[in-house]
Amino acid sequence: MFRKILITSGPTVEPIDPVRFLSNRSSGKTGYHLAAEARSRGLGPVTFISGPTALLPDEVELVQVETAQEMRAAVLEHFRRSEVIVMAAAVSDYRSVKYYPEKMKKGGERITLELVKNPDILLEIGARKRKGQILVGFAAETEDIFVNAQKKLLAKNLDLLVLNEISEANPAFAGEDNQVFLLRPDGVRRLEKMSKERLAARIWDEIARLAGRPA
Ligand code: CTP
Repeated sequence: MFRKILITSGPTVEPIDPVRFLSNRSSGKTGYHLAAEARSRGLGPVTFISGPTALLPDEVELVQVETAQEMRAAVLEHFRRSEVIVMAAAVSDYRSVKYYPEKMKKGGERITLELVKNPDILLEIGARKRKGQILVGFAAETEDIFVNAQKKLLAKNLDLLVLNEISEANPAFAGEDNQVFLLRPDGVRRLEKMSKERLAARIWDEIARLAGRPA
């Protein structure tokens, strides 16, 4: 039983004007199943911070956000009291520099949209992690996957990194199933391709192992 579990899920949505936005193909499925599995195992109270998605779990404290900046504020509010933090959200790395309050009219053949970097929420909380907190991140890589993932594990001070190798055979974001690697500072484990529901269960098994508690 954990004192409190924090899960982020879904995409973030970064508005450009009243009808347009920047986002990604995250379905929120893995985050949803992570919350559902935590509840059915009775692992502890779950705070679920989610970008816009159709998949919202029951029996959780639900915090709905749109932008990366809103997600950051919500995570920072709940982070200190959380024993396990699982950052499954696909946060937009960039947002539009400017929000256009009126719908943008079409103009020339080419236009340029200037983007600015969003805060890296996981990096920020990794730096603030205290003893006893377990921090789990996700990575989506297409090349040099282990080198890049290992760097992320260290840079973000993670206890566990769920590495998605994105390819045609494993689109990960859109699909029902997923094939991942679980990276810990002391080693890598390859999981077979499985449903996102089963994957959520395997991730909790690994977290229980890290915490030294039976799953
Ligand atoms: N993440 C975050 N805040 C961001 C971007 C990512 O908290 N602004 C978290 C995600 O929730 C996920 C992990 O970091 O757990 C994903 O990192 P990923 O997007 O794969 O890699 P990046 O760190 O963004 O690096 P790059 O895009 O260069 O691969």
